[in-house]
Amino acid sequence: MSHRLTVFGTGYLGATHAVCMAELGYDVLGVDVDAAKVATLAGGEVPFYEPGLEPLLRKNVDAGRLRFTTSYAEAAAFGDVHFVCVGTPQKAGEYAADMTFVDSVVTGLAPHLTRECVVVGKSTVPVGTAARLAARLAAEAPAGAGVELAWNPEFLREGFAVEDTLRPDRLVFGVRDGGRAERVLREVFAPLIEVGTPVVVTDLPTAELVKVSANAFLATKISFINAMAEVCEVAHADVKKLSEALSYDTRIGGRFLHAGLGFGGGCLPKDIRAFMARAGELGVDQALSFLREVDAINQRRRARMVDLARELVGGSFHEMRIAVLGAAFKPNSDDIRDSPSLDVSSTIHRSGGTVTVYDPAAMDNARRLHPELRYADSAVEAATGADVVLHLTEWREFRDMDPAAISGVVRERRIVDGRNALDPARWRDAGWTYRALGRP
Ligand code: UDX
Repeated sequence: MSHRLTVFGTGYLGATHAVCMAELGYDVLGVDVDAAKVATLAGGEVPFYEPGLEPLLRKNVDAGRLRFTTSYAEAAAFGDVHFVCVGTPQKAGEYAADMTFVDSVVTGLAPHLTRECVVVGKSTVPVGTAARLAARLAAEAPAGAGVELAWNPEFLREGFAVEDTLRPDRLVFGVRDGGRAERVLREVFAPLIEVGTPVVVTDLPTAELVKVSANAFLATKISFINAMAEVCEVAHADVKKLSEALSYDTRIGGRFLHAGLGFGGGCLPKDIRAFMARAGELGVDQALSFLREVDAINQRRRARMVDLARELVGGSFHEMRIAVLGAAFKPNSDDIRDSPSLDVSSTIHRSGGTVTVYDPAAMDNARRLHPELRYADSAVEAATGADVVLHLTEWREFRDMDPAAISGVVRERRIVDGRNALDPARWRDAGWTYRALGRP
């Protein structure tokens, strides 16, 4: 069955989805309102850092299976399955998700839909959105009932986006009874289903909820261990050992149980807030009030990191130089959305410290958002003259770093491991004061 697919939105999610669908053999048209992004992608270049994506983009652009456009009319004429992959960021000054981009895709696309097709939402949205969009499509598309809406949430992690898209741990198809959407989705994802990927078919609201509840669970797991870290700090216990011991209980499991500076990024923080906001609208805010605590625990880790750094430099950041290793919200990404590292960096800067940041991939993004900070071209340069080094994003380059590489350049050998990813013995043996979150 040869479907022609379009993908609206060519950010981290959409670009990856478009490339991977082309890799599965489909003719794919990526659509974005940003002409510069479209030109970059059409030229075979990925405008963000995602390991393994660019070679696949080039291969599929060269093979003629993957094209990009800004034209909704062209997209409507071309595709019979339209994926919606635009962002749903947090609204300024509110917890709720900003639905502008999702709605504008429907506004732009619907008038051009003159024949049967399926519109498949992948964006993370407040529950109830799919039903609302289905009604809009029925009213605004010339093909009317010939346009079906389905929801197929995406669980990919940045840094592993290609792997997660081509080998997902499950597929969720939210569809309406009696429609064609389930059959179409089974055909589109046949190469993944044939190798055993489990498929869960649900109604639309359940599919929307799967995504936000998965992220709420992951955020809760991280904040749980970070709450234990808070207790460990006053009880002189070691959260890393605690977490290891918990991890052998298969009911608990060790993944997402790493204590440290906590979660950031474009998904977990805004998704739990949007989930709380939506629950409030639905009159069940009590059901999710624990997420307020999950968020608060996460924010307190950042404050604790600032306090620990201040303590190490003698009680005040005044005239102190602080080296920050890592700016991205996690390693293997250049994404700095709600980055814990940059949050800590700018708080220290505002408290009078001189902060110099180095990151292997996120420098340009960090510079744009935080021009007030200083930037270095390497870890060694960032550490030069530092009174304390803060390890805030656990890139391999930092985890593997030999303390000797920077021992000679710092003013004081003090390091705070914000990710519990360095070997304390190695740093202490090299004459460093090593401190970490949740550990003695
Ligand atoms: C997340 C979900 O994992 C993914 O399924 C969803 O589709 C989008 O949101 P992502 O934002 O790419 O993906 O990052 P993830 O790898 O989940 O990490 C989120 C944050 O949690 C990072 O800041 C990371 O440093 C932090 N984290 C993760 C911890 O602090 N401890 C952990 O044990 C795991």
